[in-house]
Amino acid sequence: VVGDDHVLTDPDLTAQYARDWTGRFRGSTPVVVRPASTDQTAGILRVCSAAGAAVVPQGGNTGLVGGGVPLAGEVVLSMRRLAWIDPVDRLAAQVSVGAGATLEAVQAHARPHGLEVAVDLAARGSATIGGMVATNAGGLRVIRHGDMRAQLAGIEAVLADGSVLRRMHGLVKDNTGLHFPSLLCGSEGTLAVVTAVRLKLVSVDAEQTVALLCFASLVEAVAAVAELRAWPVPLDAAEVFFADGLALVTRHLDIEPPVPRDAGAYLLIACGGRSDLSTELAAAVAHLSCAPMDIAVATEPRSRAELWRLREAHTEAINAAGVPHKLDVALPAAALAPFADTVRTRVTAVEPGAQVILFGHLGDGNLHVNVLGAEGDDVDDAVLRLVLEHGGSISAEHGIGVAKKQWLELDRSAEELEAFRAIKRALDPQGILNPNVLV
Ligand code: MLT
Ligand code: ZN
Repeated sequence: VVGDDHVLTDPDLTAQYARDWTGRFRGSTPVVVRPASTDQTAGILRVCSAAGAAVVPQGGNTGLVGGGVPLAGEVVLSMRRLAWIDPVDRLAAQVSVGAGATLEAVQAHARPHGLEVAVDLAARGSATIGGMVATNAGGLRVIRHGDMRAQLAGIEAVLADGSVLRRMHGLVKDNTGLHFPSLLCGSEGTLAVVTAVRLKLVSVDAEQTVALLCFASLVEAVAAVAELRAWPVPLDAAEVFFADGLALVTRHLDIEPPVPRDAGAYLLIACGGRSDLSTELAAAVAHLSCAPMDIAVATEPRSRAELWRLREAHTEAINAAGVPHKLDVALPAAALAPFADTVRTRVTAVEPGAQVILFGHLGDGNLHVNVLGAEGDDVDDAVLRLVLEHGGSISAEHGIGVAKKQWLELDRSAEELEAFRAIKRALDPQGILNPNVLV
């Protein structure tokens, strides 16, 4: 279907497709197939269906829950060659792209038109749009523009039997029955393989301001986000990290931070618009009921990037220190600080030598609990149960994958999971699509 050159069987070549980015999830595959078109994807799925061969679809392989790893010798369907990008539709502020286009490539394509994809994340150079849709990726700007699901104006996907669902005309209003972008986004490659996406675009902010606020505690940082939201300055991001993460990042990058190292919580906020909003932001910060202990502000691209780097480099700095258990969770705003206060104790109770590093998207109630030095799954169990005790969700933006599959029944009801399974059976009766994840 794809030609010999795009069927990889040499273990030296297939190995990179059989493990995840963190090194925590490893499997094996007899073959990696690399289609370049929707027709080829459909052809491969017809062959696999006929052979009853299970398939793991894979984009940029930047996922963090093992959802793209062939754990039981599945065929890997690598979507990276479907990297086409159509001309930007300026009238509609939309663009159609192949599933294998990276976020960075689509951003570079849209920016000359003053437009960009609203979702942004640190893995932008490798993460593919198809993978971001399959996992309903969130990232750094959900507080302003929503998650990946909110950016979809159309989708094309191939079902397990090779049939193609296509609705890419990008109509803002289209109330003609079931909405496949909603159904497939977040289904983690279990219902269909996404081959193309019609994305809504937003205008690029001409002026941007980034500020790093140091607070004595997370309670103060959470309160600050709530107060800042009430100001007429649209927050683009409200990110959090802590002194232990800052220490790891500055050591990893060999840099000195522009703020003291011993704050109780660091809140990175960004805002942007047509004009410079730094004066409005400064006024909003000056009115906070709990004044920050220290502040660093950046309006120039270079200094903004330096502040962002302190937050974005957490992932690579943690990975450089070991193989982390990554637990991406969501909590109600009022539960963020109580959860953060307890989680370290819960983890060290089951794994005394473990190190817990927290960071995340405070404005979305989304914390990333990273645990270094954990052997088995006990820490995952302790953290996820604590999340549920606090009324949270066991996955905010990374998905369930294989990493959290065993805890899904604690979070979703038996009736919900049976509905998941019924949909799965209807669309993939043989169960060949990404069989190790979700249900
Ligand atoms: C992030 O927020 O940086 C990403 O979700 C990646 C991660 O959690 O490590
Ligand atoms: Zn994140």
